[in-house]
Amino acid sequence: MATRLITQDGFMSVENAKRGRFITIEGTEGVGKSTNVAYVKARIEAAGIELVLTREPGGTALAEQIRSMILEPREEAIAVDTELLLVFAARAQHIKQVIKPALERGAWVLSDRFTDATYAYQGFGRGIDTARIEQLESFVQGDLRPDLTLLLDAPVDIGLARASARGALDRIEQEKHCFFEKVREGYHHQLAKEPQRFALINAEKSLQAVEQQVSDVVQSRLGI
Ligand code: TMP
Repeated sequence: MATRLITQDGFMSVENAKRGRFITIEGTEGVGKSTNVAYVKARIEAAGIELVLTREPGGTALAEQIRSMILEPREEAIAVDTELLLVFAARAQHIKQVIKPALERGAWVLSDRFTDATYAYQGFGRGIDTARIEQLESFVQGDLRPDLTLLLDAPVDIGLARASARGALDRIEQEKHCFFEKVREGYHHQLAKEPQRFALINAEKSLQAVEQQVSDVVQSRLGI
């Protein structure tokens, strides 16, 4: 039996004790993920911790190509199952090439979106059965799950207005308002399922007030 030691998170085997932390940031379009990703990155690096900043879909050359396949507007409709499998194909590559090696050497990983986005967009948005997503999650990830997920939450209208002000909309951003209402509901569903993993951030407030909330979470949950 592996020797065990007690950490803040509970029991952890000695082999895993050096594993870095895996942090994800989620939310619907235009909630200010990029600004907050940059803030969290700066905080982690200021604590002298090696950080790998990445995103989904994407994070490797191949996964970024899959991202383009998913997001470029095209004439041919993408079947919902195809979209789901593309997202997980990109994720399999990302985990193998980037996330696992980084965590194993003790680096922290900060990912702009991960599998909660699949539950929200493909599950609630597209209507794919959650059980199907759970199967793929175990197949592709094994027991890899984020240690902390910051969920930036704001009314859909506010986020969509910010996203369209940024310029041309991608294939998913072109979806109707009601799609994003379902996505937002999907994120809240994830939060209710695993409240201890999530930190809910009210992203409707001023930039400064949002940063303060994120700062408090970084301090209380990551201890930096
Ligand atoms: P963004 O990260 O620049 O917001 O764009 C990524 C888009 O991809 C966004 O619309 C959410 C979508 N997406 C999914 O539909 N499923 C997923 O699993 C992930 C990671 C992203």
